[in-house]
Amino acid sequence: MSEPRQILVTSALPYANGSIHLGHMLEYIQTDMWVRFQKLRGNQCIYVCADDAHGSAIMLRAEKEGITPEQLIANVQAEHSSDFADFLVDFDNFHSTHCEENRELSSLIYTRLREAGHIATRSVTQYYDPEKGMFLADRFIKGTCPKCAAEDQYGDNCEKCGATYAPTELKNPKSAISGATPELRDSQHFFFKLPDFQAMLQQWTRSGTLQDAVANKLAEWLDSGLQEWDISRDAPYFGFEIPGEPGKYFYVWLDAPIGYMASFKNLCARRPELDFDAFWKEDSKAELYHFIGKDIVNFHALFWPAMLEGAGFRKPTAINVHGYLTVNGAKMSKSRGTFIKARTYLDHLQPEYLRYYYASKLGRGVDDLDLNLDDFVQKVNSDLVGKVVNIASRCAGFVHKGNAGVLVGGDAAPELSEAFLAAAPSIADAYENRDFARAMREIMALADRANAWIADKAPWSLAKQEGKQDEVQAICAQGINLFRQLVIFLKPVLPVLAADAEAFLNVAPLTWSDHLSRLENHTLNPFKALMSRIEPARIEAMVAASKEDLAAAEAAAPAGNGELAKDPLSPEVEFDTFAAVDLRVALIVKAEAVEGADKLLRLTLDIGDERRNVFSGIKSAYPDPAKLEGRLTMMVANLKPRKMRFGMSEGMVMAAGPGGEEIYLLSPDSGAKPGQRIK
Ligand code: MSP
Ligand code: ZN
Repeated sequence: MSEPRQILVTSALPYANGSIHLGHMLEYIQTDMWVRFQKLRGNQCIYVCADDAHGSAIMLRAEKEGITPEQLIANVQAEHSSDFADFLVDFDNFHSTHCEENRELSSLIYTRLREAGHIATRSVTQYYDPEKGMFLADRFIKGTCPKCAAEDQYGDNCEKCGATYAPTELKNPKSAISGATPELRDSQHFFFKLPDFQAMLQQWTRSGTLQDAVANKLAEWLDSGLQEWDISRDAPYFGFEIPGEPGKYFYVWLDAPIGYMASFKNLCARRPELDFDAFWKEDSKAELYHFIGKDIVNFHALFWPAMLEGAGFRKPTAINVHGYLTVNGAKMSKSRGTFIKARTYLDHLQPEYLRYYYASKLGRGVDDLDLNLDDFVQKVNSDLVGKVVNIASRCAGFVHKGNAGVLVGGDAAPELSEAFLAAAPSIADAYENRDFARAMREIMALADRANAWIADKAPWSLAKQEGKQDEVQAICAQGINLFRQLVIFLKPVLPVLAADAEAFLNVAPLTWSDHLSRLENHTLNPFKALMSRIEPARIEAMVAASKEDLAAAEAAAPAGNGELAKDPLSPEVEFDTFAAVDLRVALIVKAEAVEGADKLLRLTLDIGDERRNVFSGIKSAYPDPAKLEGRLTMMVANLKPRKMRFGMSEGMVMAAGPGGEEIYLLSPDSGAKPGQRIK
């Protein structure tokens, strides 16, 4: 046996301003399976992650919700942690980039870079919002496209004609935050001199650290010459102030990857056997892997290794890049219900179904991966339930009935045992190289052979014949042993199935090398169903709930602001626009749950001269809707009616709060009468 390896693994740090969806989960599940494989093999493997908590988007979102950024990131961290835990993603540490370790490490790295001459400063001219008092990132500027004259386009590209441009080229620019006309202002910025690392990067990106497709893509940038990278932002900003430069902050992408180190450092404080320097010093023998999506390659494969090199730390062993998730062949779509949040999935389905499906389709490449919902049901049911679990359920009963649960010794199918042993190195190699799809194919091929052999021996027929009891026991003991090996091979993907199987097999937690041995003269525990089939109705319910997430977000969003999460900003409106909204006092005559909708209430509202039917996404805060009956609230009475799956929604009631249990329906003072206009 070779020395156990020391391996540090990361997944990209999710932004702390939104929910985790199934696209993100592709990355965390992929990484987790690889980490579990390494641990199963007896290597020391540490998996760290964190929320990416800095930046102006988070600052503005917190402002909008009326809470501090610290409160916002704490809420989101709690949500993210439970999503990951429930998908069986087993981080050794899930930290935050807004922490003391990260502040110190960011400071240290920046100072070392500056002392080595890798930091430049110069003045930059940028749009500034005079009302809000802040410089505007491109996405916070809107205006008329200089090419096609489409209105309401973002600062750097036109969604209508696809043109890209500098924000200063936009016609009639407006701040998306305050609506003010931005003005050009100068400010001192700090730059990381990436070109200093051109030669190192040219060599490093071609040294087996990246998939070929990724290295080729980077070569385009490298060959056209690298640019200095702007790493500072002016106050107000939510992040770390640059040491010695009051009012200047590190750009979020400067301290985000340092968050990997910070999370590990935080873990070291709890786990004395871990030595931070041993993993991060320049000549470290430990391995370091980052798993990321294809959209953030330049940050990880150019800026990050250059920062590490410049500051005297080790560089990553490899960066493993995956493609994007599509659902039913298309980009995830809120209106089709295929923009599925991690929590929505978990409300309807077992995490291991998705883990297996992703594994069965994940290769080493950067291709996009499609979650086809019909194929998902079919594959999980046929492979996991129909092939793997089936072996145990076919054999267990006979062992309990015929031999008091004791597995007899001996090998009833030496050829099959030999095939299973022979396949193990190839399966391990597939896992090691992140070719999960090949690993799953090879495992299922073994399961097919085991099932075919049992079907051929037909213990259920033999059991009815006189004098065949020994043969039945020999077949079933063999079947259970083959099942046990399959469970070992699948354990990185299906940890709960493995734990349940260990309980049934009455064995200690299995490791990879356990596949070399057999259970003989060993007593089993009673067999319980290990996994049930996916009912297609569960999928339909999940898709419906995802559509409803959208409806609830829209019902809770201000009038006219379709997509709550995408545009967290409230531009100013003219008085006339405000006056055009017909706000009324409304009496809640009836409030009831909606069949098939987890988040919606159906409200019947009396507004004096008429009654309105309104669907509102407030059920999480008002689980007992009858209590709302008789109460006054406020409604937007001239909102264009919306056709929803459950009927027509004729207006919107007004509520405040971040969501979940914290939704507060607004009420007028007593004395107000239904139908009165709010002025
Ligand atoms: N905060 C940055 C990463 C900083 S790492 C120092 C970020 N966050 S993210 O929340 O937008 O994305 C986190 C990871 O999820 C990224 O690797 C990203 O590629 C991945 N994915 C986000 N949407 C995805 C899909 N639809 N499909 C597959 N992966 C996706 O980027
Ligand atoms: Zn255009």
